[in-house]
Amino acid sequence: MEAGTPGGISVQDEAVDKSNFKKCNQIAFYRRQKLLRPGKSLYRVLLDSVTLSDENVKFQIIHEGNKVLLQVEIYEIEGNIFRLKIDEASPLRPRYKVPDVLIKEPTTQRLLISHKEAGILVLSSVNEDYKLRVTANPFQVELQSKGETVMSVNSNGLLYFEHLQPPPSDRYTQNEEAASDSSKEKQEDLGLWQEKFGSFLDIKAHGPTSVGMDFSLHGYDHVYGIPQHTETLLLKNTSDGDAYRLYNLDIFGHKIHEKIGIYGSVPLLLAHKPNRTSGIFWLNSSETLVDISTKAVHTPSRSAAETAKQRAVPLTDVRWMSESGIIDVFLLMGPTAFDIFKQFAQLTGTQALPPLFSLGYHQCRWNYEDEQDVKAVDAGFDAHDIPYDVIWLDIEHTDGKRYFTWDKKKFQNPRKMQEHLRKRKRKLVVIVDPHIKVDPSYILYAQAKEKGYFVKDRNGQDFEGICWPGSSCYPDFTNPDVRKWYADQFAFKTYKGSTNILFVWNDMNEPSVFKGAELTMQKDAVHYNNWEHREVHNLYGFYQQMATAEGLIRRSSGKERPFVLTRSFFAGSQKYGAVWTGDNTAEWSYLKISIPMLLTINMAGISFCGADVGGFIGDPEPELLVRWYQAGAYQPFFRGHSNMESKRREPWLFGEKNTQIIRKAITERYVLLPYLYTLFYRAHTAAEPVMRSLWIEFPGKMETFDVENEYMLGKQVSYSLQFDLNIFEVLHDKKKTQKLWEPFCLGFVFLQIPVFQRGGTVIPLKTSAGKSTEWMIDISYELHVALDAEACAIDLTSTCFLINPFHQWQGQSELKTVESRKTLLSCSDGKKKEVVFTYDTKTSALTLENLALSVDADWEICIS
Ligand code: GLC
Repeated sequence: MEAGTPGGISVQDEAVDKSNFKKCNQIAFYRRQKLLRPGKSLYRVLLDSVTLSDENVKFQIIHEGNKVLLQVEIYEIEGNIFRLKIDEASPLRPRYKVPDVLIKEPTTQRLLISHKEAGILVLSSVNEDYKLRVTANPFQVELQSKGETVMSVNSNGLLYFEHLQPPPSDRYTQNEEAASDSSKEKQEDLGLWQEKFGSFLDIKAHGPTSVGMDFSLHGYDHVYGIPQHTETLLLKNTSDGDAYRLYNLDIFGHKIHEKIGIYGSVPLLLAHKPNRTSGIFWLNSSETLVDISTKAVHTPSRSAAETAKQRAVPLTDVRWMSESGIIDVFLLMGPTAFDIFKQFAQLTGTQALPPLFSLGYHQCRWNYEDEQDVKAVDAGFDAHDIPYDVIWLDIEHTDGKRYFTWDKKKFQNPRKMQEHLRKRKRKLVVIVDPHIKVDPSYILYAQAKEKGYFVKDRNGQDFEGICWPGSSCYPDFTNPDVRKWYADQFAFKTYKGSTNILFVWNDMNEPSVFKGAELTMQKDAVHYNNWEHREVHNLYGFYQQMATAEGLIRRSSGKERPFVLTRSFFAGSQKYGAVWTGDNTAEWSYLKISIPMLLTINMAGISFCGADVGGFIGDPEPELLVRWYQAGAYQPFFRGHSNMESKRREPWLFGEKNTQIIRKAITERYVLLPYLYTLFYRAHTAAEPVMRSLWIEFPGKMETFDVENEYMLGKQVSYSLQFDLNIFEVLHDKKKTQKLWEPFCLGFVFLQIPVFQRGGTVIPLKTSAGKSTEWMIDISYELHVALDAEACAIDLTSTCFLINPFHQWQGQSELKTVESRKTLLSCSDGKKKEVVFTYDTKTSALTLENLALSVDADWEICIS
């Protein structure tokens, strides 16, 4: 946020000033691309240029107007992925190709040319499941899976590629006097060589470089993804308004239901229909806009009996437009949603496995004032018997917003404070923002300056912008040497006062530049290897988190898993830690929107995400706060946070009744941790999102496709955001159960919070919570078994596994309890033994207690 200018001017509490941010029609490349009317594509394939290698198929396409040649490369990648790359055949200078996002060069499979004549080129996958039908004139690609057309590329003829040109001789940036008024006007309108926004002037050293293309998704009218927007789960038709914008921006007090980009971007779109899910991953880190339009198309019926009839089939057109770079797009063929997640992870990596503590509850505020405050808040949790793992320090803990330092008055002995927390089995997270205060006596500044590690302005000077510390410079994280140097700053001997219970929060890394255009860095700033900021903008935060995570790994000589929270992110950020949704507001509508926002981020590969519990800006009414805790307890990253101007809101400040409900919600979270940790293990190893929209679990049920107030946590647990719900009524009233959509959820609930366990599943829990995760090592486990409507027995091994968060079983944990709904008999270790059980007729729950089974030994429970 820009909460007022630095130097002590007070924090604004007002809504976003919209005039600071562009609408789509104020974006020059968007205007230029829109001038090109849909219709016949101007590109034609030169069939004579087709070459085939083990790796790919290459050919050239020519623009019929300007005769510029583009080079097209088509790859089949292992695992049902196709990649289409389009670049200039001979660019004036190389164009930017996003590095570091793909975890490796994807393994390709040889395509076969199965047909090449009469203006058609047909490529087949080795197993012949897929066919790419390339039409030469106009250039189009149709992607078929076993005869079904799934996607087509450039079918609306919107392929757009601005080739690099030498500056025109009357370019008025060079010779302002000489240019005529009308030429100036025209250039300004098209923003070819420069673009104005308010008082900001973006000078485009390399001129216009925009690219774009359209994709038609056949049979689909449900599309999702492309975070981050404050929008519904289901992407909307953009024909009548702004396109979805992917441009990382710091928008304080952002509104909901807007398509402007905030904080982070993942250019991955998913399309779903009952029998298939597909994905488009548009690998481009410059400003990107996505237009979506869904319609019904009438196609003749194929069945002979219905030849006269027409079938209305949905079709979604998706048009991607980027300011710069090349076209590098991955078509993910699924066919299931889980296949898409795997395919995306195969390209960009899986969720880093979080250290267990980071799945506990986090208590944050801007700011916990000093050591006394930290200790008092910490003690408050114990006094009120509320579990928590981490206390956070915001920017005020530093010496004048110089990160990696401490305010010497407020934090006289940070190590001692951390030792205090360590004894209480808790952790500390401190903020480390990217901007570095311009101050020659600040070692970080002096070093980076001397080494030339800052981003430069267009004149080659260090780019200076305003952020929390006042005048600041910005490390160029796109440079691997800068990342290494930055990672080194986290070494214990370098970062004075840090210990191994200190972890990191990267904020303001869009990057936020208070007086910059759209409150971010000028696009004509210059990075490593002379790339302009416009090329790398959406990667800045990704790289800072990468360097920070690397620093934390290195400080422990590779032994400990890092925890790094970032506000800005890109495709692949999941490898480096967690993200949160930024500066939300303490209003009910923000609680509601947090669910589709988090579901969308999860779909884009980043499972470890959350929203500030309570709402960052303003003061929540107690009921909202309580409800937010109940929601946050079932979301992957669970942190209470509030603005500097918000009233204190530690969980015990709202009367005993509310404290009790919050305690219960947090306690439930801790009891659920074995299950949650297991889900993260699955996210890490198998790319399964932790938080899933219903359609992912129930892909054939159309009524789930737009549900965004209910979701699944893994396969086994469903959460429902309902504000007035008496759960027992729901359980016992058939109609209400149906309203909750999931009819075979046999209502295992944690009271008050509408959380259900899916029939036919088992979930591992702890029998009780402790003061923090570390206090819980010795607490026993229990299994909750929910039989489905038909099953009279359940195979535990196939539905439940438990991942041990500790490297070795250190504690005395044992499986103590099994809760089930049917009469059962238990056997263990070959020796059959009968166990005592209780049966609750009200909830139909049968409980077997005191099983004393070891969690690391083999045993079996037979249900009969
Ligand atoms: C930004 C962050 C917020 C933080 C504040 C001060 O607004 O989004 O979480 O508290 O800056 O650092």
